[in-house]
Amino acid sequence: MCDNCKKPYYITTPIYYPSGNMHIGHTYTTVAADTMTRFKKMTGYDAYFLTGTDEHGQKIEQKAAEAGVTPKEYVDKIVANTKELWKLMNIQYDDFIRTTDERHEKIVQKIFRQFYEQGDIYKASYEGQYCTPCESFWTASQLVEKDGVKVCPDCGRPTELVTEESYFFRMSKYQDWLIEYIESHPDFIQPASRANEMINNFLKPGLQDLCVSRTSFKWGVPVDFDPKHVVYVWIDALSNYITALGYGTENDQLMQKFWPANVHLVGKEIVRFHTIYWPIMLHALGLPLPKQVFAHGWLLFGNDKMSKSKGNVQYAQPIVARYGCDALRYYLLREMPFGADGNYTNEAFLTRMNADLANDLGNLVSRTVAMIEKYFDGVIPAWTDAVDDTVDKPLHEHCAALPRLVEEQMDKLQYSQALAEIWKVIGECNKYIDLTQPWVLGKDPEKKDRLSNVLHTLAECVRYVAVLIYPFMPTTPERIFAQLGVEDEGLKTWESLSEYGKLPEGTKVQKGEALFPRIDIKKELEELSPQPKEEKKPEKKEQKAEKKQEKKEKKVEIPEGCIAFGDFEKIQLRVAKVCACERVEKSEKLLKFDLDLGTEHRTVLSGIAKWHNPEELIGKNLVLLANLAPRKIMGIESQGMLLSAVKVNEDGSETLRLLTADPMMPAGAEIG
Ligand code: ME8
Repeated sequence: MCDNCKKPYYITTPIYYPSGNMHIGHTYTTVAADTMTRFKKMTGYDAYFLTGTDEHGQKIEQKAAEAGVTPKEYVDKIVANTKELWKLMNIQYDDFIRTTDERHEKIVQKIFRQFYEQGDIYKASYEGQYCTPCESFWTASQLVEKDGVKVCPDCGRPTELVTEESYFFRMSKYQDWLIEYIESHPDFIQPASRANEMINNFLKPGLQDLCVSRTSFKWGVPVDFDPKHVVYVWIDALSNYITALGYGTENDQLMQKFWPANVHLVGKEIVRFHTIYWPIMLHALGLPLPKQVFAHGWLLFGNDKMSKSKGNVQYAQPIVARYGCDALRYYLLREMPFGADGNYTNEAFLTRMNADLANDLGNLVSRTVAMIEKYFDGVIPAWTDAVDDTVDKPLHEHCAALPRLVEEQMDKLQYSQALAEIWKVIGECNKYIDLTQPWVLGKDPEKKDRLSNVLHTLAECVRYVAVLIYPFMPTTPERIFAQLGVEDEGLKTWESLSEYGKLPEGTKVQKGEALFPRIDIKKELEELSPQPKEEKKPEKKEQKAEKKQEKKEKKVEIPEGCIAFGDFEKIQLRVAKVCACERVEKSEKLLKFDLDLGTEHRTVLSGIAKWHNPEELIGKNLVLLANLAPRKIMGIESQGMLLSAVKVNEDGSETLRLLTADPMMPAGAEIG
């Protein structure tokens, strides 16, 4: 489609304060905006994504002074780090605006002058409580009391009494219009609960005129007709969404094309600025309002919001360095519904990585490719007449419907739900393997046609998944396409999903490395945040004697052939989930297992190759004797023993089957 025929889509993040380096909270919003942009571009929109930095204000001025550099030198460094971080996170913004850019400052001055000339701004003297970290004035009734002190209702820190001669914006004039607007545009503020909050807590009690200039510091955009004053940072900052598009200049094609914005993504703490001050500014300028302001929740650290000024933050860099950017992007978008708060913990991240990425997605891809290699010499087989409607049809239909299901969720900015839809199909594919049992079909030459369909189905579903995860995890699809042997760019597009079954036969698959390595969570956690090992306190003499006495009293006769309960207690049986299983080279008997025990992984060898096919065991819950001393077999250390049942046949031979545990039990569950 030609660029001019495409529908425009404009999305923004807040412009962040470069008072310190960006942490995982800023990364969250930016990844969400990038993902939506990629999704819109993929689905035929001309999407434009703006991010940037909000560089003026007293806080930055103070930080720079503390660091002994000029404010500009201070922010230049942080901006360079921010751009590096966005590169690392694979963020493809179309523009990065800095409020210190000349293109921005000039237009902010022009906007301010227009407000003044048309009577929206007037000059008066003002006394009020000011919160410097939030760059906000509060009225006495808005302050909250904490430990007997009146503090800022947003951040809980003390405010200062400030008296200034200032310019004021007549917000009150627009109050009724704004209430009407919000009430008649239910999509404008999302989630809807935020709209009620704005109306009931801020608009209905009565809007105060807003102080929009400062004389107490210099680091800001000067009011050009009264240069003692600098423009209030929020008036300066909010304007970025239009100054970046060339508003107020001769070169305003982007403004013509992309305004009004489709959505401003913001954290819930700055909804007030975006849904009260910003709409009023725009209305005063005669411009339409953005179609939506979406307030997402906070990433918490314990029960507290992570924040630069509180210092309780997690940064993206160490996580990406260890696990890759796609794993972090996936986690951020999947873990909490967009709009709700959620805790970031390394443990939750690693658990999700193992379950969703290594097990569900990784296994599906590796099993599919491995079976095509094994049964069809690595060539994707044809679709034949050997159809089994009861199992094939539901999966084909579900897969064909998937793009629409994902789009429905993305239209509501429900990233987590969109991913959940994709993972439902991944789960269904893994179930399809269990149902169709390709390893059984593979033994019977007459079932070749059927096997051909099963593997074609799996390969096509994997292709759908690879195309659809692209906006969320931009580097993973190419790794999947490489394994599937898909080179044709036409098979990697949204359009290629318009009809199920486009994957041609005959391409050569290429087994690659595991997409996401399985992680030993316990070990990783220790390495990510080393924790002091608990020391065992030596038992006191009396306690030892007491225990001895107890033992004596409990001693009972043990019948021959039985073991004492205490002996049984020594045995540790655990549920072990099979993550991978393969034959050991040069051995007819041995299978090698990679077992998930919840907090760790074990390699275990078992001499059951005669009775079990490796593929059929993947994903099963087996029973592991977990505290057997490790031993080396054919040069490989086996760390435990899988339990099995043995049947002696009439001819004296044995049939052996592994014991399984209920599939509902989590990996690592103790058996006893
Ligand atoms: O407010 N959880 O900048 P800022 C989720 N300059 N998102 C978080 C987060 C967390 N713990 N911490 C930060 C400003 N964010 C102004 C904006 S816009 C015209 C001016 C994200 O550096 C979230 O998007 O404090 C939040 O709204 C934004 O960063 C605040 O960034």
